[in-house]
Amino acid sequence: MKAVHVGGLLLAMVAPLYAEIPQSQSSQAPPEAAIDPMSEPRQHSMALAGALKQALVAAMQSGGPVAAIDVCHIQAIPLTRQISESSGWQVGRTSLKVRNLDNAADEVERDVLARFEQRLQAGEPVGTIEWMDEREENGKTIQHFMKAIPVQAPCMACHGTDLAPAVSQQLDALYPGDQARGYTLGELRGAFTLKRAVPPGS
Ligand code: HEC
Repeated sequence: MKAVHVGGLLLAMVAPLYAEIPQSQSSQAPPEAAIDPMSEPRQHSMALAGALKQALVAAMQSGGPVAAIDVCHIQAIPLTRQISESSGWQVGRTSLKVRNLDNAADEVERDVLARFEQRLQAGEPVGTIEWMDEREENGKTIQHFMKAIPVQAPCMACHGTDLAPAVSQQLDALYPGDQARGYTLGELRGAFTLKRAVPPGS
């Protein structure tokens, strides 16, 4: 999509030199600043964040944190899959310290997460910490977007420093190698990670 817009823009700028294209037509091309390839994956990651938080808060209110662990454990998967299917992006969450090993970061993600940490420490507001690149993998152009996830108050019951014994016990049972405890408010918990092969014709 990006390539087409950028190509179109270039063409619109260059074409009048060679052909009688009215000026008004070339000025209809979107200004470069309006083309933000991150806006689409950003929207999908916000949709997942919203859906997860809603499910979590509802479960915490009705059954407390131990019951809510099941929501994170069981519901996160269908919610994530739903958004992957409807968006065409492979959507997930990752971290440098995972609870579920299925969410472990690959080499690119580890590198990006380390840079997210540096940006956070340098004072950048967490809401703007995101990254995107486009690379060739097995002959396909892959777009990859990541967006920082901060530790907020509702996360503390299961990712904080002071967990209720029943919560720790349940987490120990489900995730023997759990690394995702001991966080304080405002730290980087991880990131949404979204990938897709650039669809043909875009
Ligand atoms: C009720 C307990 C609970 C609460 C509260 C909670 N989480 Fe989690 N979190 C979990 C569990 C359980 C998993 C593992 C999910 C799985 O098996 O995929 C998890 C996994 C994650 C992951 C995926 C990476 C990993 O470690 O496997 C992220 C990111 C995450 N949580 C962020 C948050 C954030 C941000 C909040 C607050 C908005 C939060 N969590 C609140 C229990 C919780």
